[in-house]
Order: sequence, then C-alpha cells, then structure tokens
Amino acid sequence: MVSPRLGYENLGLGVGLRTVHFGHILKNNPPVDWFEIISENFIDSQGRPRYVLDQIAEKYRIVMHGVSLSIGSTDPLNMEYLKKLKALAQQVNAQWVSDHLCWTGVATRNSHDLLPIPLNEDTLIHTVKRIRIVQEILERPLVLENPSSYVTFADSTLSEWEFLTRMAVESDCGLLLDVNNVYVSAINHDFDPEQFIRSIPHEHIVQFHLAGHTNMGTYCIDTHDGHVVDPVWKLYRLAHNLTGGVSTLLEWDAKIPPFEEMHAEVLKARYYMDQQYDSLPMPAPAPDGTAEGPAVPHPLHYVLPEVQ
Ligand SMILES: [Fe+2]
Repeated sequence: MVSPRLGYENLGLGVGLRTVHFGHILKNNPPVDWFEIISENFIDSQGRPRYVLDQIAEKYRIVMHGVSLSIGSTDPLNMEYLKKLKALAQQVNAQWVSDHLCWTGVATRNSHDLLPIPLNEDTLIHTVKRIRIVQEILERPLVLENPSSYVTFADSTLSEWEFLTRMAVESDCGLLLDVNNVYVSAINHDFDPEQFIRSIPHEHIVQFHLAGHTNMGTYCIDTHDGHVVDPVWKLYRLAHNLTGGVSTLLEWDAKIPPFEEMHAEVLKARYYMDQQYDSLPMPAPAPDGTAEGPAVPHPLHYVLPEVQ
C-alpha cells in the first residue's frame, strides 16, 4: 500500500501559468495556491519567459507538466530531454513532474500531439519499463495523465482504467486524473466515466485537471477553451470524495480570459468539495440529446461574491 498521493502534498487550487498573464501576476501577486507550467515552454528558454518564471517560483509553488516525454513510443527515451527536465525541476523547485500516457512521435519525428497507445499486455510492460527508467533519472516518482482520445485500437485488450491501475501499481508512478478527459473520452468511446473514476487506485492520484471542452453533439473535443461543464464538476466531486482531496488545476489554453476569471473558475471547486456526491443532480439531457445541460447552476457567487 503506497502512501496517499505518493507522499506529495495537496497544494490546493491552482491554474496553468500562461504568457498572457505574466504581467498581471508579477504586478498583483494574486492569491492562487500554485501554478503548473508547461515544461517545454521553459526548458530551453533563457529569455523573458524564464526570467518571469524564476520570479514566480520565488513566491509560488510550481508543478511541471510536460507534453513530449513520449512514454509510450517505441523510440528510445530522449536522455537529453530528461537531463534538461531534471535540471529545470531542480531550478524551480518543482513539486513534481508530470506528462501524459501517450506517444508523441516515432523515428525521431515529433507529431506535437498526444497520441493514444493500444492498451494491452505488451504496451503495459513497455510503458512500465520506461517509467521506471525515467523515475531513476529524475530521482522522483513520475506522474502520468490520462489523455483525451478519439480512437480506440483493435489491439487493445484492457480498459483504460485497468491499464492505468496496473501501470501505477507496477511502476510506483503517480496519476494525474484529468476529470474532463475522462468525460470527453467517455462520450467518444461510450463508457461509464464513474466506473473509470471509481476503478483507478486512488492513493496513486497526485493531481486533478479540470478544463472546458467542445461538445460536437455526437463526440467531444478537448479544447480547453471555456468553463468546466456541470457533468465534469459532478465527476470532480466523486473524485474528490474518493481521494480525500488532491491538488486541483484548471487548464485554459484557448480564448484565455483575464486572470481573475480563470482563477474564479478553479475556485468553484470549493463548492463541489462541500457537496455530498449524491446530492448533485445528474445533468439534464441537452435538446440535441447530448449529455450536457445546466441542471447544476454555476456556483460562482459562493466563492467570489464580487464576480458576476
Ligand atoms: Fe489535462
């Protein structure tokens, strides 16, 4: 039995650090609990982004979130990248380092996308072996996120939650549970998102992600361009209940609003933490038959009375 969150602290409610907010953060020191950075945005940067990050890291706790580890690829691990990742983690005193259960390229070509892997015994052995190597290099448990996905493989023999469970237990890695990704993939692949969240090893969950997505009627796209929808908040409540609470981070990467609005969105989590899971009504079906609807009012006034 591992210790909850692998011993990593619950940092509270954070937001993704985005360039458009640099000036606001430096000037106002907003009362956000922590920031998550995209590792690749700073790994090779010695200019203004790095200058700003160093200042922010003096005042706030930082978590590093990567997009190019490519843990599922058949390419050899990129040792140069891992060396730089470790150096940045030491320099900004990163609380932990995360990436995605995916592959991003092959034959040294980078697709710049988070591509799903077939979920079976062979890919599990391959992934666990590589996680162990990465953890030895970084000298800390790696944290891996469930990506949103749009295709499944004929070669898959395990459900995503079975794969994540065995991967975490066999490699001793942490899990970053992206609640929005569970919802998006559940719509796209027609599985029960509650079963997903109930089935993974909760003591391995180090962090949650929340984000907005775009519902296309018959499928969802993980666009990170808006507010978190009510069904995702309801799943968040379930995940919070099952884990006892872990660091929660809002991702907002397109149509990025002013900092206060982005911060207010993650603070809504306080409302859902206080609710009993069963007391939250299931969302009413939208007119087009999709699963979303405004059955649960956005409780912004509960957390930030001054924000309309
Ligand atoms: Fe995410």
